[in-house]
Amino acid sequence: MHSRNLGRSVFGDLKNTGNLLSPEEAHSLLTEWVPNEKLRLHMKQVAANMKAWAIEKEGADEQTALKWEQAGLLHDADWEKYPDDHCRIIIEELERRNIDPEVIHCIASHGPTVFGVEPVSKMDKMIYAIDELSGLIHAYSLLRPEAYDGMEVKGVKKRLKEKAFAAQVSREDISDAVSRIDTTLEELIQFIIDHQKAVS
Ligand SMILES: [Fe+2]
Repeated sequence: MHSRNLGRSVFGDLKNTGNLLSPEEAHSLLTEWVPNEKLRLHMKQVAANMKAWAIEKEGADEQTALKWEQAGLLHDADWEKYPDDHCRIIIEELERRNIDPEVIHCIASHGPTVFGVEPVSKMDKMIYAIDELSGLIHAYSLLRPEAYDGMEVKGVKKRLKEKAFAAQVSREDISDAVSRIDTTLEELIQFIIDHQKAVS
């Protein structure tokens, strides 16, 4: 199998700290690179969870919250068009555009077993923890006639235990990611239910 290991651990340039894509630039990148609406929705959900986490749990200021949001929004930007080179292509694109190195590192560390980059900052650790879980919770919402209404943590945990449900979601990654943060799986599930239900 083609290796997606990035083979490096330093991304971007410190002199670009604070540089982000404008909302318009991020929007057009998404429209151009990600025609698949379901994937776009996933990226928007991860972005909403990341931004809310930064503000509510980390007490982040506006600029920091925007970084968390942008990392979430762009983390899978190259997945549809370059599956064999995900996430090298989006990383190189953001390096070319002089984007904040913390955002690029965060994207590079969203799957340490695949990309070979360890999450370091809290932002890195949270994208790793949120990504797969967000996808599983969304898949569960599609199964329920009431979607997110009345969704309970225990229902999500039951789906997590059913290996055949959303089988592409790595249970190992989820438990590894949660073991690296100071939050229980239950708390994180509840947070994601509460924050991604309104994303469309
Ligand atoms: Fe993702």
